[in-house]
Amino acid sequence: MKSLSEEKVQFMPFEVLLDQDQIARRIAEMGKQITEDYAAQTPVLVGVLKGGVVFLADLMREIKLPMELEFVSAASYRHGTTPSDNVVLGGELSIPLKGRHVLIVEGVVDSGNTVSAILRQIRKLQPVSIEVVTLIDKPASHRMRLDIKYKGFSIGNDFVIGFGLDNTQRYRNLPFIGRVIEQ
Ligand code: IMP
Ligand code: MG
Repeated sequence: MKSLSEEKVQFMPFEVLLDQDQIARRIAEMGKQITEDYAAQTPVLVGVLKGGVVFLADLMREIKLPMELEFVSAASYRHGTTPSDNVVLGGELSIPLKGRHVLIVEGVVDSGNTVSAILRQIRKLQPVSIEVVTLIDKPASHRMRLDIKYKGFSIGNDFVIGFGLDNTQRYRNLPFIGRVIEQ
């Protein structure tokens, strides 16, 4: 028998937008770039839960430097006066970020509200540098000026699933990025 929550999850028809090889090749390039840019540093990678974890796991193994790992979680709400006020951060940081080189690792940047809220919070901790790394960027959806130094792929306004990204918590385990087909 299906549970109530299972019945609420709709099957999403999708097509492959980015296959496993394409993603792996791009992540290897990004890791190489970060390795060069942070030579002789020990960056702290701050993964954004949950959507950033699959990308993060692959990316960190392409970074050939000593590095440290942290996580933050972000949840959006429809209250608050500005969009980034609607993003509530969770998770205790155990590594002090003061004086560190920080890389925020996201799965997807859409409106930019989430990443802006995270940047604002982390800047308060006085890192020496802070940059954003995202697997997927949707530049046409940004609602503010965003400086994203490392992006895997720029796409249009499509809703995508897989490689950590969900639709109602499902599909994160797809090993590729699928584009949901609007019906
Ligand atoms: P934001 O609009 O940039 O703040 O993105 C908010 C959150 O929406 C992201 O962290 C994702 O969790 C989710 N999101 C945005 N676009 C997509 C998508 O195409 N697929 C899956 N999740 C998405
Ligand atoms: Mg989501």
